[in-house]
Amino acid sequence: MAFLTLGIESSCDETAVAIVEDGSRVRSNIILSQAEHSVFGGVVPEIASRKHVVSIGPIFKRSLSEAGLELSEIDLIAATRGPGLIGCLLVGLNFARGLSLATGKPLVAVNHLEGHIAANSLACVDLDSHHLTLLISGGHTLLVEVRGTGDYHVLGETRDDAVGEAFDKVAKLVGLGYPGGAKIDQLAKSGNPKAIRFPRPMRHSGDYDFSYSGLKTAVALHWNSLSDTQKQSDIADVVASFQEAAVDILAQKTIDAAEELNISAVTLAGGVAANSRLRTLLAEKLEKRGIKFYFPQLDLCTDNAAMIAAAGYFQYRLRGASKMDIDSQPALRLGQ
Ligand code: KG4
Ligand code: ZN
Repeated sequence: MAFLTLGIESSCDETAVAIVEDGSRVRSNIILSQAEHSVFGGVVPEIASRKHVVSIGPIFKRSLSEAGLELSEIDLIAATRGPGLIGCLLVGLNFARGLSLATGKPLVAVNHLEGHIAANSLACVDLDSHHLTLLISGGHTLLVEVRGTGDYHVLGETRDDAVGEAFDKVAKLVGLGYPGGAKIDQLAKSGNPKAIRFPRPMRHSGDYDFSYSGLKTAVALHWNSLSDTQKQSDIADVVASFQEAAVDILAQKTIDAAEELNISAVTLAGGVAANSRLRTLLAEKLEKRGIKFYFPQLDLCTDNAAMIAAAGYFQYRLRGASKMDIDSQPALRLGQ
């Protein structure tokens, strides 16, 4: 009999509810991205949590109806515990608690970062197999050795800005709006990635840590030195050159770690995993070395609830249900 998990994600500015069968087959995946924040150039926590309160009920109902299911048919309720914005996390976890109390179905509170990693199980990766994950989002830049479900060893992380944050800040600087990662990806296709040689901080630092604030500043200094006419004519070259530097560092560190640890498979996770240049570059480099490469489809890279349902399913099989009074944790780390 199929085991159905209903997942809820509300850690930042996406209200999402999904239903996943046996931790791997998506039955429905509803995501509402809050458009309200773009005029502010970033997420406004108070607006985000209020919007979650309004949207979560209708999104939950749509998720059930798209899957053609009744709530009574769901076996497990999973919701994001953290990391994220506290007001936002509380909405999703409390909604899940209510569903669990009303139905008597078990509740699991899931680490959002484990969710991003588990998105790969929806792309048919056996999460129990030993592999390396590059977890890159608006808030995180982590290189993680996955030794099995729930068994993570963080090899390195960013010392300052996350790579997604650097994409968003550069996008804002050149007037592409927020969030800007996908817009840079698109515009870079018409630019020359070798036009400007931006620095690649910590590319050969000998460890697996990252740093993105220096690259962001170098792009800002270059941009601010251009005249208005140059800005208009050079914008695609600037973003393409920035993107090339950003993904070159990610790819180099990933290859170094895969070779040092003798790893046979690499996966991507998190919003920046949607980046087309990174996917192409890593695919080329890994193929040459005979290392397998997997990444989730685009809508499963950025925040979604299918990944929370998948991670919740594996967590439940491994460690059982969470306690009903479990709290939200805005600064939760991977493996906690
Ligand atoms: O995982 P996610 O949806 O939310 C967080 O948990 O942070 O990641 C969002 C981040 C944003 O910084 C966004 O600009 C970036 O992922 N992003 C991209 C692309 N699509 C989304 N960055 C580069 N290229 C993309 N195609
Ligand atoms: Zn995320």
